[in-house]
Amino acid sequence: MQRQKELHIFSPSQRNLWRSNAPSIWTPASDHPRENQAQSILRTLHDQPRWLEPYHLYDERGSQLFEQICQLPEYYLTRTENSILFETAGRIIAAAPVECIVELGAGTSKKTLHLLSEQVRQRKRGAFAPIDVSLSGLAASRDIVREEFPLLNFHGLCSRYEEGIAGIEKKLPTLFVFLGSTVGNFNRSEFVRFFRHLAESMGPKDYLLLGVDRVKDAEVLEKAYDDAQGVTAVFILNVFRNINRLMKSNFDLRKMRYHSWYNPQWQQIEMYAISTATQEILFPSHAASFVWEKDDRILVEISRKFEPVRLQKQLQFFGLKPVGHFTDPKDWFSILLFRKFKISSAEKGETKRHVKYE
Ligand code: AVI
Repeated sequence: MQRQKELHIFSPSQRNLWRSNAPSIWTPASDHPRENQAQSILRTLHDQPRWLEPYHLYDERGSQLFEQICQLPEYYLTRTENSILFETAGRIIAAAPVECIVELGAGTSKKTLHLLSEQVRQRKRGAFAPIDVSLSGLAASRDIVREEFPLLNFHGLCSRYEEGIAGIEKKLPTLFVFLGSTVGNFNRSEFVRFFRHLAESMGPKDYLLLGVDRVKDAEVLEKAYDDAQGVTAVFILNVFRNINRLMKSNFDLRKMRYHSWYNPQWQQIEMYAISTATQEILFPSHAASFVWEKDDRILVEISRKFEPVRLQKQLQFFGLKPVGHFTDPKDWFSILLFRKFKISSAEKGETKRHVKYE
């Protein structure tokens, strides 16, 4: 089958800011100065209580362990979301008349294939632009998409979410897809920053498809994050192995244990490493250290759980109007579809007129 004319996914102002680093894969031409991984680790480990940003979990071993988690009997999220997408992809694509699908944090885009298949069936054309920091994941996704959907233009963006999102042409009707409840790993301020940036970068004909895990029975949630085989514990504690390699530090994995629980007030699973003996942690290349006292905890990751109606209302304040809600028979997971709308100056609070978001 013949490939369609290339769709331009970059806005004119962005085109020169990207360079190709593999066939059909793009990366920002210049590195933006951003806080490096070591600075982030030192900053949050010296906070009170100590914590870590979740992206440190995903070195190569961490990514493989997460793949294993997705197959665990207790971890219902991946298969539930996949079955919802399998059932409803046709309705989702029919409701979102777009020419481009952008997936955030795509990995190998397995679940998104249901959407791509419907895009091709219903529209016979389109572009697919996954955004991910992993070049190997993007290359794997490119090979699958080219093989299975030759009618689609593939443009992988090897970058962080914010950079990739900002690159997309606003005039191109686009469906942004953010699955896996990854948004649940953002803390409250990251969550606001993320949606503000995404909504500002979206064009007037754009949609957002968001997969989120729901508030439910604490026992079900706690088992999903403390599985019988102990894979989640290994995944969480692996972050210290990664930090030791990166910073030549001396976290002793034999002197720590994993603990997680569902905090009902904050509606989130909290995943901790607890020190089983007092240990002095040294960062020789950064002239820094701290004493990790016995029984003291480091918050390695949170996983927020959502009430879909509440989330729909909250996202209206970013200019995202709910237009679809797809769930599973047990109501355990939700896939929410939003359309971008323009918030008028009155709604932004520039006048005193009362506006009801419904
Ligand atoms: C990637 N993220 C959505 C997973 C979650 O469910 O919060 C990460 C995870 N951590 C432990 N198990 C899974």
